[in-house]
Amino acid sequence: MDILKVTDLKKYYETGDIIVKALDGVSLSVKRGEFLAVVGTSGSGKSTLLNMMGGLDTPTEGEIIIDGQSISGLSRDELTILRRRKIGFVFQNYNLLPLLNVYENIVLPIRLDGGKVREKDLDDILDFLHLKDKKYEMPSHLSGGQQQRVALARALAMKPAIILADEPTGNLDSRTSQDVMGLLKISARELGQTIVMITHNEEIAQLADRIIRIEDGHIVKGAVANV
Ligand SMILES: Nc1ncnc2c1ncn2[C@@H]1O[C@H](COP(=O)(O)OP(=O)(O)OP(=O)(O)O)[C@@H](O)[C@H]1O
Ligand SMILES: [Mg+2]
Repeated sequence: MDILKVTDLKKYYETGDIIVKALDGVSLSVKRGEFLAVVGTSGSGKSTLLNMMGGLDTPTEGEIIIDGQSISGLSRDELTILRRRKIGFVFQNYNLLPLLNVYENIVLPIRLDGGKVREKDLDDILDFLHLKDKKYEMPSHLSGGQQQRVALARALAMKPAIILADEPTGNLDSRTSQDVMGLLKISARELGQTIVMITHNEEIAQLADRIIRIEDGHIVKGAVANV
């Protein structure tokens, strides 16, 4: 079953007289438990697509269906709740809250949703991401790669049905990137989570179940299936 489906998605930005077609008719389905990699050059529309699939931004045209529900008919509050319950985001710029420490950042979405923090699971995630000794550190005291892993830990801790990750290994060395990929693959396999991951790294992309390539706001034909 498709947990994510976008149909003829378009996003046009108007700046002055110029229209930037960030997405220009993208259709895509992602199955439950699938691990999809999205590749493409800088400015090709990858982040725009991811943000749209997570209901963070409204398309100029097209439909987005999350877990069988078209999101265009939802109110702002309904969309916020759907997002919080079902989707874990890893943003390209991490989006950590600077005044909260690592632990507080990670548990914030769980607490906002009134959920209970499973300390053991959280420690396992921190352990896996080599962040155990940074648990109570402030984000500003962390390296870029460490902040990136905290952002990933925050997305994973909710155990969402869908993880949308924008370059989650962009600031990591190849060894740590492999570890992160390992954790994402375990999440997909054991928790049935669906993962859509943007990456510039072809080697990393090869570890996913399927790769799609975006150029100039279009999916390029001949996308490789890895399964
Ligand atoms: N808010 C905005 N206003 C105007 N143009 C925008 C806006 N956001 C994105 N764009 C444009 O849309 C296009 C796609 O941007 P997007 O961020 O999706 O690219 P990307 O593939 O994620 O690139 P990168 O690999 O560098 O992160 C770019 O040309 C960008 O300049
Ligand atoms: Mg981007």
